[in-house]
Amino acid sequence: MTSRVTKALIPAAGLGTRFLPATKAIPKEMLPVVDKPAIQYVVEEAVQAHLTDLLMVTGRNKTPLENHFDRVPALEDALEARGKESLLDAVRRTSELADVHYLRQGDPLGLGHAVLRAKQHVGEESFAVLLGDDIIQSGGELLREMIALHVRTGASVIAVQEVPMEQVSSYGVVAPHIVDGSAEAVVGDDIPWPSVWVDGLVEKPAAGEAPSNLAIIGRYVLRPEVFEVLERTSPGRGGEIQLTDALQELAARRDELGGVVAVVYPGRRYDTGNKLDYLKANIEFAVAHPEIGGAVREWLGEYAGALAAEGGARG
Ligand code: G1P
Repeated sequence: MTSRVTKALIPAAGLGTRFLPATKAIPKEMLPVVDKPAIQYVVEEAVQAHLTDLLMVTGRNKTPLENHFDRVPALEDALEARGKESLLDAVRRTSELADVHYLRQGDPLGLGHAVLRAKQHVGEESFAVLLGDDIIQSGGELLREMIALHVRTGASVIAVQEVPMEQVSSYGVVAPHIVDGSAEAVVGDDIPWPSVWVDGLVEKPAAGEAPSNLAIIGRYVLRPEVFEVLERTSPGRGGEIQLTDALQELAARRDELGGVVAVVYPGRRYDTGNKLDYLKANIEFAVAHPEIGGAVREWLGEYAGALAAEGGARG
């Protein structure tokens, strides 16, 4: 059963320990990438893919997220009184982006558990899952293509990227379905990126045990049957209920549950839970920023030149 996809789930209950002490009093999703909190990029991506019914699964200390997507009349009045039109638009836009619902995860039992918490809200429809740590360049386009693939094939669809083998243990990793020595592709003229049928998935395998180096990058379009599978899924890697383990069952029971297709996304993706990637995301978005982009580019050039000269002087 496939349907038009309008709902998106955004799990945002993580503790953000990798960014302590910055995340001691604010959720990691509120750390800014240039001038917007990371979570806003994810919400905008969902909206670009015509997903307007959003459910955030949050935890304790996450009220700043709710406040961010709400109206702040006193701030709006103050900006209006000072004639700060563009800032007023930016502030209003965050509360008008989408219909955002919130649900607490309760016990932090893993991503699979967070997804299962959305069962009642989602009902019998296919839905998207966007992990807040991943910021994806042209993410709206990727999600639109994933939804189109889901409608075309009836499969649950995940986005993957090739990563160096020494990094596979940080990700869910897929085993493509091999036919006559090569991965079974989804065929069609209008499929922009390589897309392959998946036989199996493993959460955070050791490099020597990974079935490939294709890693899940935090975007999913799932059939509602995933809920019934998650209800039966036992704790896996890290003692947590893993979404990857439920996907393994969807992939293995392709005839009954539609199977799993992986889109190999060639664009850039940043894991904002990782300090280096977080900084890279800030730089890339700053260079593309309409207000400061030119100045950032110029400064970066100078700075890179100074660093190279320093390296040359040392060497
Ligand atoms: C989660 C998923 C993993 C996926 C990753 C992408 O792991 O469990 O399969 O590859 O997100 O960012 P986490 O990074 O939350 O540990």
